[in-house]
Amino acid sequence: MADDAISRALTRATALAARGPQRGGNPRVGCVILAPGGRAVAEGWHRGAGTAHAEADAIARADPADLVGATAVVTLEPCHHDGRTPPCSRALHAAGISRVVYAVADPHPLAAGGAQWLAARGVEVTTAREAGVGEDVVRPAEQLVADWTTTVRRRRPWLVAKTAASLDGRAAAADGTSKWITGAAARAHAHTVRADVDAIVVGTGTVLADDPALSARHPDGALREHQPLTVVVGHRPVPERAAIRAGTWRHLATRDLAGVLSRLWDAGARRVLLEGGPTLLGAALRAGLVDELHAYLAPVLLGAGRPAVPDLGIATLSAAPRWRTTETHHLGEDILVIARPPEGEDQCSPDLSRRSALSPAAPTLTELAC
Ligand SMILES: NC(=O)c1ccc[n+]([C@@H]2O[C@H](COP(=O)([O-])OP(=O)(O)OC[C@H]3O[C@@H](n4cnc5c(N)ncnc54)[C@H](OP(=O)(O)O)[C@@H]3O)[C@@H](O)[C@H]2O)c1
Repeated sequence: MADDAISRALTRATALAARGPQRGGNPRVGCVILAPGGRAVAEGWHRGAGTAHAEADAIARADPADLVGATAVVTLEPCHHDGRTPPCSRALHAAGISRVVYAVADPHPLAAGGAQWLAARGVEVTTAREAGVGEDVVRPAEQLVADWTTTVRRRRPWLVAKTAASLDGRAAAADGTSKWITGAAARAHAHTVRADVDAIVVGTGTVLADDPALSARHPDGALREHQPLTVVVGHRPVPERAAIRAGTWRHLATRDLAGVLSRLWDAGARRVLLEGGPTLLGAALRAGLVDELHAYLAPVLLGAGRPAVPDLGIATLSAAPRWRTTETHHLGEDILVIARPPEGEDQCSPDLSRRSALSPAAPTLTELAC
């Protein structure tokens, strides 16, 4: 089969994978199945933990006769473990697939081994690069699962930190007011981010100052289907009438952010949003815990008030880590800048791998809630 048919299929599989949720325990995966002549006969993607994997989704949509001798092009190595759904390796083999091309090897210790298992049964299994697919096609597929593979390797959730600031970098005015620095479009975007995380972490300072609900809402105010667990961190108590008490929440009376993330990982959280004020954001940045910064910037000048980021102990410009801007969005009058730490920065982050993610004693996110 021509390499360009495989390349086109991988591009399509990557686009399909991007439709899946980023939260939950599973990676985003897409699959396209090609007949021996290169015609696409089925496609599928994973819609989140507990639902069919991409390969199974594609197989279910195909005419079984089309699958015999076909090639499955997948963004991630087919899994090989019995979880909530049966292993994709067995499903592909049972369907009569004769060739599998995948972009990224599965780093998960439980799920890996699908390629080996299939090859041992006579299926031709290669990586996309081995199949001659170009870097311009393989890299987007790798990037799509990069956050997930990083979390699996480090065994701590991917941490997105959000801040809404004035053009001169203030998170609140001189009197402490911060509702609303940004406009409706930026706030609506922030709600879509909330809807795609497992948990939101906020400091007691923000709960006491702003009394936010921290729910994920549609622009009309209706609650979205998925509501992340809200975790309040800090020693001060959460007021009896706090708005977050209306949702699923938990108070962890600690300032140990790495420990909080470890606990959330053990409970199944893979993507967490830090929505604290400047104190919590500064603590997370100093500890090297932030994987992605979402800075919403509004064209308003405050001149005074809390800086969005407190002193990080950077004495001179040349000592300041230069983050990478990965995305920018115009949201009404506001701008969202998404940035990531310099390459390799996460290697400085605390390694929480000694804690067991699979410990039967670890409470789930639901059990963690008050
Ligand atoms: N513009 C924005 O994006 C934005 C977002 C949120 C808040 N705000 C504004 O920010 C202000 C509140 O700021 P804030 O800094 O007090 O809020 P915060 O960062 O949410 O909360 C700070 C508190 O968190 C606790 N904490 C937990 N872990 C900590 C750690 N590792 N290091 C230090 N403290 C830790 C401490 O409380 P304990 O003393 O209880 O331990 C600390 O006082 C308000 O004016 C609010 O309107 C702005």
